[in-house]
Amino acid sequence: MFDILVKGGTLPDGRQADIGIRGDRIAAVGRLEAAAGRVIDATGDLVSPPLVDPHFHMDATLSYGLPRVNASGTLIEGIGLWGELRDIATVDEMVERAVRYCDWAVSMGLLAIRTHVDTTPDHLRGVEAMLEVKRRVAPYLDLQLVAFPQDGLYRTPTGRENLIRALDMGVDVVGGIPHFERTMEEGAESLRDLARIAAERVLMWDVHCDETDDPMSRHVETMAREVTRHGLGARAAGSHLTSMHSMDNYYVSKLLPLIAEAGMTAIPNPLINITLQGRHDSYPKRRGLTRVKELMAHGVTVGWGQDCVLDPWYSLGTADMLDVAFMGLHVAQMTHPAEMAHCFNMVTAENAKIMGLKDYGLEPGSLASLIVLDAGSPTEAVRLRPDRLAVISRGKVVAERARNDARLGLPGRPGSVRRRV
Ligand code: FE2
Repeated sequence: MFDILVKGGTLPDGRQADIGIRGDRIAAVGRLEAAAGRVIDATGDLVSPPLVDPHFHMDATLSYGLPRVNASGTLIEGIGLWGELRDIATVDEMVERAVRYCDWAVSMGLLAIRTHVDTTPDHLRGVEAMLEVKRRVAPYLDLQLVAFPQDGLYRTPTGRENLIRALDMGVDVVGGIPHFERTMEEGAESLRDLARIAAERVLMWDVHCDETDDPMSRHVETMAREVTRHGLGARAAGSHLTSMHSMDNYYVSKLLPLIAEAGMTAIPNPLINITLQGRHDSYPKRRGLTRVKELMAHGVTVGWGQDCVLDPWYSLGTADMLDVAFMGLHVAQMTHPAEMAHCFNMVTAENAKIMGLKDYGLEPGSLASLIVLDAGSPTEAVRLRPDRLAVISRGKVVAERARNDARLGLPGRPGSVRRRV
């Protein structure tokens, strides 16, 4: 007897299997005939572990237009706008926006999110708000918080002290932003300092590293060196790495093996990188995405992150990681069949690896968190970004949606149209 039986689905690896759930765990996977409290018919649908976002800014989300829109569209104006907003937004306002975003996320099957939290201001209201959000959503959504010194670890008098205070308050992961420190030397020193903090506290480390079009920026190599020095390995993630797009090819041929040697992971954020980078170019205009396929060819785990939704940096977004995969596929030119399918893995299993999620997957004993998509395969899921028909978190159905096929009113044509093949 199962509490829930998901019947007839296709798993991301192509297997056809039913999934039996008992309590908050997957009890069995295969051809299952046992009775169940509830049966979900997933015949012909894709059944996958949940979507995962390893890079987000939940303290800023759903604030688009506050205090005004980003007129230049640049990263720098976005940082300036956020600097004003974070000092006028109350804890309650930030909590309300973030919880509303988490509702969107759940409805899209996104059940684990790593969010950076700005630790710059002395009031640390963002940290207080995000810790409260983490507590509220904990029964159904894994939220990891990163102590993120948005204005630079050393660029404000209390930047370092406030980052430590945030970690002491319970923030999970150490952040960083070396390219925003005053000089290359101070950026490098910030990386040495932050790696030590992560190692001493046995925490993960996730750095906004070289989110710049500067081909001479060298913080990625310094980060890789520090990850190797402290043996952080996959506990460390380089977010953005956009300078690698613009770097000299000869130099990158040395850098890629250093990143692989470190064992660190990489999180490009295609929606935001394609929007914010290259803004100082005329033509040709750089894409600003890091070297995704080359990193993967060197054995580096690469996931796709969302970064922003309706905030000072990005005026769109829906909490759908399949939008992120869709954009990443295009910008990184991942059009081979195996690459398209891998783009789905990047927003599910690869991102779960980056976040270090425990018991993630569709094996007996895994947490019973899964999604049923109106698609036949991972590639079709990326192509259609289809409805999430059912979302199950830890053995509970937390979102459902009816299948939504368009009805046609055309003479001599069938009455409805499906986009699936
Ligand atoms: Fe970011």
